[in-house]
Order: sequence, then C-alpha cells, then structure tokens
Amino acid sequence: MSVPVIIDCDPGHDDVFAIWLALGNPLIDVRAITTVSGNGLLKYTTHNARIALTVAGVDGIPIAAGAADPLHRPSRPATWIHGENALGGPELPEPTVPLDERGALQLITDTITGSDEQVVLVPTGPLTNIATFLTERPELVSRVKEIIWMGGSTGRGNVGAYPEFNAWADPEAADIVLRSGVPLTMVGLNITHQALITEEVIKRIADVGNRTSAFGVELLRYFCGTYNKVEGMPEGPLHDPITVAILIDRTVASIQRAHVDVETTGEHTAGATCVDLHNMLNRDANVDVAMELDVDRFWDLVIESITALA
Ligand code: BDR
Ligand code: CA
Repeated sequence: MSVPVIIDCDPGHDDVFAIWLALGNPLIDVRAITTVSGNGLLKYTTHNARIALTVAGVDGIPIAAGAADPLHRPSRPATWIHGENALGGPELPEPTVPLDERGALQLITDTITGSDEQVVLVPTGPLTNIATFLTERPELVSRVKEIIWMGGSTGRGNVGAYPEFNAWADPEAADIVLRSGVPLTMVGLNITHQALITEEVIKRIADVGNRTSAFGVELLRYFCGTYNKVEGMPEGPLHDPITVAILIDRTVASIQRAHVDVETTGEHTAGATCVDLHNMLNRDANVDVAMELDVDRFWDLVIESITALA
C-alpha cells in the first residue's frame, strides 16, 4: 500500500531530489505537486518542478503554482545558493509536462477531497501554501494525516545565526502551521547537515548511469560549489529529501517530541525556530523533531529511486 502525498516545494536543487525520491519509491503515491516562491521567484520554482518530472520521465501528476510571495513579506529568493533561476548548473530542458491551471490551493483541495484516505503533506519550502490551505479550508484539515516539513533548526541557522531559510522566508506561515494541531515532523538543519554530498555519494549517483542521474550530478556539483563559496562546505547538505525518506522508512531518523515556536519578529532572530528540547517551558509538545540521520540508509533510498527513473 502506498501513501498518498502532496509535495509542496520551491525547486531548488535539493527539492528536485525530494521529488525524485518520492517518484521512484513504490511506497509513495505522489498525487500532486504544488509550488511556492522560495529558492527562486515562483515562475522559476514552478518551471523547475515541471523540469524535475520531465527529466525523470514521469507524467500524469498535476503541478500547480501557489503563492508568489510570503503571507506578509516580499519574496527573498536564495540566489546565493541556487542561482538566479533556482536551478543553477545544468542546461535546463524545456519541460514537457503541463502546468495545471487550477492553482495550488484548488489543487490541494481537490486532491484531498478526491482521496479516500488521509493525505500526507510534504512541504520542502516556505510554508505559505500550506498555511493558506489550513486557513482557507478548515473543514479539510482533518483529512490531512500529517505534515513532514523541511525547515527550522534546533540550533544553527543558514540565513543568520539562528534562522533557517524556509522558516525565515515566511515565519508567519510557519507560525500558523506550528499552531495548527496537525501532526508535524520538523526536518531542520540539525539533521539535514548530516546528509552531506560527499564525492563518494556523487560517484554512486553518477554510476546509476541514467538521464536522471546525469542531470542530478550536474545539480549536485553546482550546489556543492555554492555551499563551498557561501558556507565553506564543499560537501553541501541535501536537505529536502530527508522529509520523503522519513515517510518511506521511519527508522531513517530518530525523533524527539518537543514544543516548537517560530520567531516572527526579533532584531536578531526573526525566522528562527525555538525548539524546547529540554522542556524548559513545560508546554505541550507540538512537533516531532527529526534528530539523528541513518546516513547510509538515506543515500541508499535516494539512489534506489534515481535508479527506478528514466
Ligand atoms: C532549505 O532552503 C532551501 O535552500 C533548500 O531547498 C531547503 O529547502 C534549507 O534551508
Ligand atoms: Ca526547498
């Protein structure tokens, strides 16, 4: 039995790998893909989601565009990591999969209403679309089984000392999702920085020898290049696919339940997640915080999926 999933993303190099991981694994049934501005402007992230499917040789999954801007702020694309078009590196093919005209909110609504089972939401970008859905369609919230989100951190940030990009890009949206009561797993920098793109990993992906792997290697080379320039990390962290890996196999990450808030204001900390790992606040835990990654199992899953694609 496969799990019905909606991926809400801002591709982005690592978002593409999250999409591929889901598409190539028989336990995941990708019912829809929705896009949000984040790593790039919405026009780029939407185009790139279509490219991810085109390269993988997959069609028949609706892709719809969502929010062009965060709830209360302008979009601040992460060009310093992902490039101007959010997918720097390879020459991009013209996508052959169409864009669904419904828009993200309607596509999420239709997908959830049309499903016999509860649906899992996997956001790998800022939470604008997800917060909008939870706010605008309260009658459908109980049909969401869980949300597995890449964002936040138990410690360090990547757009400042503490804020992580997806939380920082739309902290008001993150706040809505954190308070929603929907079961939520947070895949933050504390775990994603364990998924390092080593030379050995790149070689294993190259050795798969299909179109997806060749395109993937070009993405990884660019991504590691910018991570090296910006953060001094020649082995960049492949954040987003850890969400999907957890859905495929819960043993891939250890989990600690904790109360989590997000700073929506703050001179030095706007966008930072405050993860109460030591229960200092004595408040109800609202989040499963992903902590330790089974690194070998993670890469095995990624490579198995790429092998199953075109
Ligand atoms: C997150 O921000 C983006 O750069 C990545 O795609 C990932 O979702 C990491 O902070
Ligand atoms: Ca992302």
